Amino acid sequence: MLYLHPAIMPFVILFLLYALRLGLDRTLSRFPGRRRTFRWGSHVRYGRYALLMLLAGAVGGALVALWRWEEVGNTELHYTLALVMLPMMVIAYGTGHIMDAYRRKRTLLPLVHMINNILLCALAAAQVVTGIAALQEWVL
Ligand code: HEM
Ligand code: HEM
Repeated sequence: MLYLHPAIMPFVILFLLYALRLGLDRTLSRFPGRRRTFRWGSHVRYGRYALLMLLAGAVGGALVALWRWEEVGNTELHYTLALVMLPMMVIAYGTGHIMDAYRRKRTLLPLVHMINNILLCALAAAQVVTGIAALQEWVL
């Protein structure tokens, strides 16, 4: 059971990075001379799945911790970063959903969405390092 979350999360992070890669096609296409096709439908689909799996994975990690140690927070930095990521997941989903559901030309919302999501991906990558530390200290 303790291995489930660490085994699944790297794949979730790859999914998230793929959604970012699709989204960055949109960012790049805003620069003059850069011709990129933004695959709107694929980005929205992968983005939604990635965020839902990330949320489920974080809740799963906490549930395993509760089951095993009867408390959360033992992993310290890993736990703290996950708490920081939670509101960012909500912002990513909320801004993305609004842009998809009510389509129009925008500048601010894509910018907020992009900056939030690049930071979210950076934190997810950092969680690999803090997660491996947690694995070494608490599981192996
Ligand atoms: C519910 C999930 C998501 C939905 C519905 C969604 C939807 C969208 C839409 C509609 C756009 C185009 C906005 C426009 O230019 O008018 C966009 C852009 C973008 N998305 Fe998402 N997205 C989601 C999740 C994500 C995730 C998880 C990431 C990164 C990991 C991401 C990264 C980006 C980036 C970098 C852009 C380009 C912003 C720009 O420079 O214009 N999105 N998204
Ligand atoms: C390669 C990536 C990751 C690894 C190796 C990893 C590893 C771990 C380990 C070993 C635990 C202890 C409980 C258990 O074994 O299930 C844990 C707990 C946890 N993980 Fe991860 N994790 C990773 C990614 C993530 C990400 C991306 C998030 C957040 C979005 C996250 C959120 C959590 C939370 C909230 C807990 C409970 C922590 C606690 O109560 O102290 N993990 N993780």
